[in-house]
Order: sequence, then structure tokens, then C-alpha cells
Amino acid sequence: MPRQLFVTTALPYANGNFHIGHIMEYIQADIWVRFQRMQGNAVNFVGADDTHGAPIMIAAEKAGKTPQQFVADIAAGRKPYLDGFHIAFDNWHSTDAPENHAMAQQIYRELKANGLISSKVIEQFFDPEKNMFLPDRFIKGECPKCHAKDQYGDNCEVCGSVYAPTDLINPYSALSGATPELKSSEHLFFQLSDPRCVAFLEQWTQDGRLQPEVANKVKEWFTVRTNPDGTTSEGLGDWDISRDAPYFGIEIPDSPGKYFYVWLDAPVGYLASLKNLLDKRGENYDAYMANPALEQYHFIGKDIVTFHTLFWPAMLKFSGRKTPDSVFVHGFLTVNNGEKMSKSRGTGLDPLKYLGLGMNPEWLRYYIAAKLSARNEDIDFNADDFMARVNSDLIGKYVNIASRAAGFLAKRFAGQLSALSADGEALTSAISSQKESITAMYEQREYAKALRETMLLTDRVNSFVDANKPWELAKQEGADARLQDVCSTCIEAFRLLSIYLKPVLPALVAQVEAFLNVSPLGFADADRLLGAGHTIGDYKHLMQRVDIKQLDALFEPPAQAEPAQAATETVVPGGEEIAPTITIDDFAKVDLRIARIVNCEPVEGSTKLLRLTLDAGEGRMRNVFSGIAANYTPEQLIGKLTVLVANLAPRKMKFGISEGMVLAASHADEKAQPGVYVLEPFPGAQPGMRIG
Ligand code: 2FM
Ligand code: ZN
Repeated sequence: MPRQLFVTTALPYANGNFHIGHIMEYIQADIWVRFQRMQGNAVNFVGADDTHGAPIMIAAEKAGKTPQQFVADIAAGRKPYLDGFHIAFDNWHSTDAPENHAMAQQIYRELKANGLISSKVIEQFFDPEKNMFLPDRFIKGECPKCHAKDQYGDNCEVCGSVYAPTDLINPYSALSGATPELKSSEHLFFQLSDPRCVAFLEQWTQDGRLQPEVANKVKEWFTVRTNPDGTTSEGLGDWDISRDAPYFGIEIPDSPGKYFYVWLDAPVGYLASLKNLLDKRGENYDAYMANPALEQYHFIGKDIVTFHTLFWPAMLKFSGRKTPDSVFVHGFLTVNNGEKMSKSRGTGLDPLKYLGLGMNPEWLRYYIAAKLSARNEDIDFNADDFMARVNSDLIGKYVNIASRAAGFLAKRFAGQLSALSADGEALTSAISSQKESITAMYEQREYAKALRETMLLTDRVNSFVDANKPWELAKQEGADARLQDVCSTCIEAFRLLSIYLKPVLPALVAQVEAFLNVSPLGFADADRLLGAGHTIGDYKHLMQRVDIKQLDALFEPPAQAEPAQAATETVVPGGEEIAPTITIDDFAKVDLRIARIVNCEPVEGSTKLLRLTLDAGEGRMRNVFSGIAANYTPEQLIGKLTVLVANLAPRKMKFGISEGMVLAASHADEKAQPGVYVLEPFPGAQPGMRIG
């Protein structure tokens, strides 16, 4: 009976493009899924965008979009990455989709009916200007320990101490700069401390389903202990699952103005994406999930283990659902021994740049697989190592086997294979006898081992070629039969090796299948040979070698950076990374015009804004508010020319409608480098002229 598998990767936040860390995880999962299918198992492999939460809501506001539009725009950019690296999800969905709203609410109702939801009034920082409670990362202030300025609400980047946002000295809102006020509000909690949850999780996390190093780490969370910073932790605590409006999220049933904390509905997105897929296929989701033989696996990074080994299984268990069979945790990817490829800093190896340079996606799949084990360990992308492994192993050892044999078969034997003599039989059966151990390695996600084993087999085939020298046989009188036999052995061996490499190299092996004239290969095909009389097709070169110039270009810093500085440290111009590349057409959407500031006045009730009256040559005046009152007096501006975003949708503000935006420069960290500088054109520019 084929196994039934439901496989996911962590759902990426819909506030940025994929970086190499995402791609690594997807490649790891994709290899496993392809392997399972080659074993004849049935897999549903799904992903989705993780769309909710305050950071996305705030980013959307900053971008002048609704959160829905904002996440839709991010989702629209996913395909080139997934297709580009041959990552074949069966479905890509969104946690803001109706299925997820309904399922998250249903799970909550069931947890509540089970007596596992409680409520408590808590005090939190509130931004009086933005009228919202502030997540910890949007509160900044002076570190209570070392007094470094502008530190985040939960820990100090200078001295490393950990504290509560309420411990900060002179806290301010990173959104508005306002001093936050402590305000109380009722929050809902999932009672993880309930003895039922504790007993279930102690068992679930320690029964051998998790990687040993992960299970050991999780074990610590059940016990009372002293943390490195001297504070004590109490064992499993209740989990705060509600947030107050305004929040981009899913409404909590019977709790007006309250939304699920993003991490409550995010993993439900796994199920919602699966349901969406099955619905589209006309299959029944409930029946699928009710199958006791169904296996459920989540590939995740080591930073989100708590959510997946405590909250998520408990949510599933106590809402009467199936719990995951395992959670496969991987480490981070570093690049050239560099910084961690975390979610927030996707620097280093830009996946789209990689593809754009014409670099083969399967080089990266091969390299990553050659480094991955089943352990939760970091791996490093090293450019020299990458080139060596791809060029000497993948191409030098594997691809070359085909190119060494195919020409003679085509030219001398019309592509026909012969029977193998004893040494050929011995070699090919040595390769097929490794099937069990190699499939076991893939099953256990020991890809590095599987590839090492396969490369040892390629060495044996190459030794066979070197020992038999087909190029000399080709010149010898009467050696035709042996030549055909040697080349047939190589092709048979090459086919077997291709089976072992196919989960990692799906596109390359698809070309191999065409060349060998065979239907799609599965692991069962390693039990037999093509046999005498099989005719192979034309050999076309299968794969280029990595060129050092491509790697140089890949890691070349963006043109704006000073080369000398770039070599020693990453330059972050103006305190923020250059935004993702856009096309000239994208840019053309923004209509920038020269405008004269014909009048300017303070705005009553605001210390930040100035009201500008602008003439952009349209035969009418525009009213535009600009947050530059701290930097300019009206007199400094009246009569000056500046740059106006002329086709920005009008925005209703507290003080009136703003019909556009005036361009000004500032450093990303306004506290550290204050100052806002309005743009002014060179002399000669006239109101109404377009900029481009
Ligand atoms: O850490 C993250 O990037 C989260 N967006 C992962 C969510 S995984 C799942 F729970 F949705
Ligand atoms: Zn500090």
C-alpha cells in the first residue's frame, strides 16, 4: 500500500520576497517529497503566505496599501522563485483565505468548549497617536542595564540583556515617536499550563517522533529553571492568543474588537491550504484527514520550534484533530561563513540574482543537498566549495559518464545497447544493490550521505571506464563487441545513478530520461536494467560547469556600494537596504512632477505637519500635508520648487485631504540621524515638468 503523506514547509511572512534561507528549506522539503513519490507514495505538498500580524499591517500602511493588497502583491512575486528552483508545491494559498478564517475560528471554539481558553486583563504599551497597542518590536528606548539609546522593547543589542518593554527608560513608539502609555485590556489565553496539555505534550514531544536534539531542547521547557540572564522560567505557561484592534487578522468569535495573534492562525494555514487543494480537486478534506494511516510532516527552521512542538500539536489535539507525525527542524544557512540568513536580513545570496545570472538551479539543489543531514545544524554556502562540488562531482563524475559512452553507441551501434559481460553485470549489480541503503538515507533526510554514497558509485564507474578505455577499443580491430559492452555498461550504470540523483536533480534527470528513451524513473526501476536491444536517443550536453565569473558576479556588492568598503563590511546606504529591483515600467507608474510651493502654513493640532499649497502646472492648486514641520519653517519653503508624486491616491487625513506627496530624504533611523531634506530641482525646471 502506498503511504499517504501530507507535507508542508513553514509559511513565509508576506512582507518580503524569499531569501536563500526560504529556498533552502523548500529545496529540502521538495527533495523529500520527490523521493517519496519515486517510491510510489502519495504526497500532498502545500505552502501558503503567512499574512497576518501587526508588522505586516504597519508595512502595508507605510506602502500606502491595504494589508490585503500588500500581501497579494507579495504573493504575486512568489512564482519565479518556486519555478526557478524546481520547487513543486501542489498548492500555494494564504492564511487570509476564507478557509483559514473558518478553520481557525472552529479550532478556537473547540478549544474553548474543552475548557482551555481563559481571559486575563493585562497592561501593555499603547501608542496614543496611532491609537493602537504596540508589539514589543515597535517600542524603543534606553536600555535599563547599559543605558544604550534606541534599543528594542525586548532585548538590548548592545549589552545583550533581556527585559520587558516596561523596563525601558524613556520608551517611545517606533511608529510615531510618541511616548507610549500603559493601558489595560482583556486578553484571551490558551491554557497550555492545564495538566491535560502538559501531560499530552510531555508524551508527544518525547516519544521519539522528534529529532533527538530537538526533543532534548523541548524537554527543558517543561521544567522550572534558571535562565542565563538570572531570571527563572516556570515550565509551560499559558499562551496569549488575542490582540486588540486595529490588527490585520482573524476575528475571535464572540469577542468584538479582538483578533487572533498571528501565530494562532498561521499553522492553521497548513490545513487551509490542503483543504483548498482538495476542494479544487473535488476530494473530501474531512475524509482525507480521517484516514488513520495519513502521515503529517512539517519542515521548519530552528527558530520556530516552540510554535510547532508545543502550541500547534496542543491546538490540534485538544480540538480533536490529528497531530503531526513529526516536525523536521533544520538549521540556518550562512553564506561564505557570513552572517545568519535570518528572516529579517536576507542578504548574501540573492536567489533571483542567482537565476538572473543564468546559474543552473540544480547546482544549488545539489550543493545544498550535499550539505544537509537530518540534524538541526547550520550549513554554510561556500563559493569555492560550491564550484568544486558541482564541477568535480556532479559534472566531472556523474554527467561525464554519459558523455563518455553515448557518442560511441550512437556512431557505431545506432544507439543500441548490448548484453553486459560479467564485469559489467558485477558493476551494475553493485550499484543497484545500494538501492535499499540510499532510499533509507533519503527517507531519513540524510541527503549528504545519500549523495556521498552515490558519488562513490560514480567513482567505480569511472574507474571501469579508465580501465577499459573505450576510446582505444574504438580504434582496435575486432573490439567492436567489447566497445558496445563497455559503453552499454556505462549507460546502464548511468541510468541507475540517475535514479538515485533524481529527487535532487529533477530537471536534469528529465533530460536523461529523454536521452535514454525511458519513461519517468522511480526507485523500483533500479531493480532491473534496460537490457540488450534497448535503443537510446541522442546525447545532448546535459549540464554546463560553474564559471567563476558567475560566482564573482553573484557576490558582487550592488553598484551603489563603494568597492573598498564593501569588501570589509556590508554598507547599508541611508540605514536601509536598497529595495527589490523594479522594472522601468514599474517606475513609470510613479508620476513625479515639478511643483512650486506657493503657500505653506503650520497645521493646528499637529507638531509634525505642514500644509503645502502646490502648483504643478495643472491650472489648479493642490493641498498636500508633509511631515516636515520639525525641519522647516513655512518661510523657508514658500516660493521654492520641489518634487511632487502627482498620481498618488488622495489620502484623507485628520486635517483634510492630502493630494499627493512631496519628496524628501531621511535616514532610516531618524532618531540616530535626524533630519528630513526636501528635494529641490536645479534651476530651469518649471512647474508641471515630469521627472524621469
Ligand atoms: O517564522 C515565520 O516566518 C513564520 N511566518 C512561520 C509560520 S509557520 C506556520 F505556522 F505558518
Ligand atoms: Zn544594554
